[in-house]
Amino acid sequence: MASIAPLQPYDLQQHIADNRLLGLWGLMSGYRMTYLGATISQALAALAKTSTYLLLRYIIDNVIGFPEAARLLPLFALGFISLAVVEGFFTFTSGRLAARTAEGIAIRLRDFLFDHIQRLPFTYHDKTRTGELIQRSTSDVDAMRRFFSEQAIGVGRILLLFAINFIAILNLNWQLALYSVVAIPLVVYTSYLFFKRIIVAYEKYQEQEAVLSTNLQENLTGVRVVKAFARQSFESEKFDRQNWEKFLRGKQLLVMHSFFWPVTDILCGFQMLAGFLIGALMAINGTITVGTYLAYVGLIVWLIWPMRNLGRFIVQTSTGLVSYQRVMAVIKEEREPLSEADFQATKSIRGEIEFNNLSFDYEAKSKVLSDISFKCKPGQVVALLGSTGSGKTSLVNLLPRFYEYTSGNITIDGVELNKYSRKFLRSQIGIVEQEPFLFSRTIRENITYGIGREATQHEIEQAAQAAAIHDVILTFPNGYDTLVGEKGVTLSGGQKQRVSIARTLLKDPRILILDDATSSVDMETEAEIRRALERLMKGRTSFIIAHRIQSVMNADLILVLDQGRIVQQGTHNELLQEEGIYREVFELQTRIEVELQQEIESSHISGFKGSNQ
Ligand code: UTP
Ligand code: MG
Repeated sequence: MASIAPLQPYDLQQHIADNRLLGLWGLMSGYRMTYLGATISQALAALAKTSTYLLLRYIIDNVIGFPEAARLLPLFALGFISLAVVEGFFTFTSGRLAARTAEGIAIRLRDFLFDHIQRLPFTYHDKTRTGELIQRSTSDVDAMRRFFSEQAIGVGRILLLFAINFIAILNLNWQLALYSVVAIPLVVYTSYLFFKRIIVAYEKYQEQEAVLSTNLQENLTGVRVVKAFARQSFESEKFDRQNWEKFLRGKQLLVMHSFFWPVTDILCGFQMLAGFLIGALMAINGTITVGTYLAYVGLIVWLIWPMRNLGRFIVQTSTGLVSYQRVMAVIKEEREPLSEADFQATKSIRGEIEFNNLSFDYEAKSKVLSDISFKCKPGQVVALLGSTGSGKTSLVNLLPRFYEYTSGNITIDGVELNKYSRKFLRSQIGIVEQEPFLFSRTIRENITYGIGREATQHEIEQAAQAAAIHDVILTFPNGYDTLVGEKGVTLSGGQKQRVSIARTLLKDPRILILDDATSSVDMETEAEIRRALERLMKGRTSFIIAHRIQSVMNADLILVLDQGRIVQQGTHNELLQEEGIYREVFELQTRIEVELQQEIESSHISGFKGSNQ
């Protein structure tokens, strides 16, 4: 196939239309000429076919039975062959152009959708199932591709075939032409009725397919949980039920189709039969010649056949329309604006951060953060401590503008947070997520992911050393070029955390956020990372979320959160002076540690005694 036209910058959002057919027409922008070419080629192919029958008529009426004309027969044979070649050529050309239109629209749509989905806000991704998005980007886009390659082109072909053959028959005999199309309105009306029903059935079918692919995707991602809880049969049964539901919906769709085909086939069959009979009677009466009759027999097949297919196409168009609507529902979603800010920061952030009476909730649910107020200077370390669900992650996620706060405000270097563009903020803030995600790429690619340029081996190693993962990486078969995930090494939880710390450190952010970043790392390694970080954090403002007091006690400011509120704030020493959660946690953790130490010592002693006896 010919190469596809290069992609133009393209804004699909402008093609969203309430009328789905208009919307699909909009999607064809840039490909309408190719589509026109395909249609014209089909017209020419149809014309060649019609001419074959007209030539046949001419031979029968004017050549056969006229010996003096018989010597022209080889010429007529050549005529038939040429018409067949012309028809074949244009059929091929139209197929090629149709494929180019359909594939071109589909590739553009897929690219746009992928880009769009990546730019949708966190709130959208929080509430949307991944499987659903996968299905819309694959199966639905494919249904639209089929629409453009088969239905959209097919409809043009059918209408042309009909028009050309109708005109040809009209020229043979106008009464015969009218008799030949009486059933057509009925065929179109029946198709329309089925179309309306099938569109509903297909919508339900696609919805169920999305349920199935979501289920599959979740089970694949969560396969460990399924196995660990030995819930395979539960999951299989659930899948069976959903699959059965899909089968039922698919069956309903097929039953509708199998009702529809015979209905239109019978209508068309009768129409053709009536045409044959009336034509024969006219030939017997001498109203038309035998040649005309023979030509008519050929032509009516090409008049009615397209009509039979028009019905099919009308019905099949429903799939294109439903998929269009499903894809557009995603495209309609508002993107996270990236270049929206009216304040253009010209240089790096210094890192002075202030929260003033800030409140936040996820979409009108109960408040997740209330009345948060604190202030830190550039280069300071702010630690957040609090029970699970107290809002620590929510608080730090506001800084890179993953979510928008509802009241109060946050300022960075004295400028309100939402004056900065998200892109700029995210370039300045490095965040190690609570549940780090690594791509199935090499360790090197994972570490350099955030910087958008080539990094030197020295830089990469420095970051890895600070994250205490360098030595571990060297033990892997291919060092830094070892693949992570499915086809490579499977990293432990702590190793993943450390690779993601290295990834963030390499980015060299002005504000560093570590959300429970060392929770899966042993105490000794954690201390090692902490020492490296203390060195690296100089001059950057950092937020550290941790559960161990040791991890936070050196911070310049410790915030203790409880149910979305700051219940205590100050330095380690200040907080130890007051009554409250901090001191309780500190005492508890110290006591546990002391007890643990004593236990270890006593077991050592008894073990020692035991071995002496
Ligand atoms: P957080 O995720 O902020 O809690 O959720 P946390 O302090 O970091 O907890 P741990 O220590 O990591 O476990 C605070 C509240 O916000 C809700 C949660 O249900 C929780 O009650 N939440 C969180 C949402 O409603 N939507 C989200 O996307 C995330
Ligand atoms: Mg958290």
